[in-house]
Amino acid sequence: MRILLTGAAGFIGSHVRSALMDRGHEVVAVDAMLGSAHGTGASPPTAVGLLDIRDPDAVERALRGIDVVCHQAAVVGAGVDTDDAPAYASHNDYGTAVLLAAMHRARCRRLVLASSMVVYGEGLYRCPRHGRVVPGPRLRSDLDRGIFDSRCPDGGEPLSWEPVDEDAPLQPRSFYAASKLAQEKYALAWSLTLGASVTALRYHNVYGDLMPRDTPYSGVAALFRSALESGRAPCVFEDGRQTRDFVHVRDVAEANARAVEAQLDGFIPINVCSGRPLTIGEVARTLARAHGGRTPVVTGEYRPGDVRHIVADPGRAVHLLGFRATIAPDEGLSRFVREPMRRAVPAGPPSV
Ligand code: UD1
Repeated sequence: MRILLTGAAGFIGSHVRSALMDRGHEVVAVDAMLGSAHGTGASPPTAVGLLDIRDPDAVERALRGIDVVCHQAAVVGAGVDTDDAPAYASHNDYGTAVLLAAMHRARCRRLVLASSMVVYGEGLYRCPRHGRVVPGPRLRSDLDRGIFDSRCPDGGEPLSWEPVDEDAPLQPRSFYAASKLAQEKYALAWSLTLGASVTALRYHNVYGDLMPRDTPYSGVAALFRSALESGRAPCVFEDGRQTRDFVHVRDVAEANARAVEAQLDGFIPINVCSGRPLTIGEVARTLARAHGGRTPVVTGEYRPGDVRHIVADPGRAVHLLGFRATIAPDEGLSRFVREPMRRAVPAGPPSV
């Protein structure tokens, strides 16, 4: 197949490109080389074209003869700084809208979209008295007192987390999350209007080789590793018992290749995860052990907008794509301490 891959120079996009090429596909690889991700004025790597998806004519030209678009380009990060909101809206949402319109004009009807587990917000919980509940955002007054776990919105009981399936409520909690959900909704409307196919891959916490070094926009695995490398202890926020699903970038690339080839009908969101939850404390200890560095410190600090537990149900990916992550997070994270990372980029926040 001939595939247009956006964000091809990025952490995930570069792995997706290799996976697609290894399977014999023809990949038209493009990237806008945003300063916030690659440094100001960076040139694209060999065989990656410079393209900003907000340029309708350039996108239309790139779409000639394309069977499927694999859309990885996005401004990423925690998305809690209000000044960054226009950059998320411009690159992620407006960019996707321009791409979808250009795909319509080019008669390309198949999209694989990089989405994120951030669309779920706080995720799903079980109350011993009220059954399945969806708690609202945690209160600052609780967090300030070191009460990190959500309580039942009906009776205040302690809750236990449940794996989140793709039908869970969507409650974005940050500008980044809002932009990923808006991307999904534009793609859903496009698919309904044209009878087109959209597979939205909701990535959980992605890590692995070529992950960017620490910036305020990096995931926690990169931050912990950079701390260890510079002789500092990883700083674990809250009480370290917050839970996530860490999935290796090579598994994420494999899920993309399968989604590109699967030709699923309609709009279908799919979790991309390992299915093996870990606490952030365990992640820090695993990395510290593998690196041989300082023992992690649990600081009790918190980041506004962080969710407490978000753990995925991998069932739909198995059922529809035959995808099961092959790299167990404890093994993958242990290996990650020795894998190459992308160089640190001295760039500031994303710009519009
Ligand atoms: C991350 C991404 C999000 C992405 C999602 C799925 C970032 C900033 N967040 O969300 O954009 O869509 O994965 O791939 O890239 N923590 C520490 N110490 C630190 C930093 C973080 O303990 O120095 C904790 C946080 O408080 C949080 C957990 O680690 O509880 C995970 O943080 P992070 O890696 O930012 O991931 P998510 O918020 O889960």
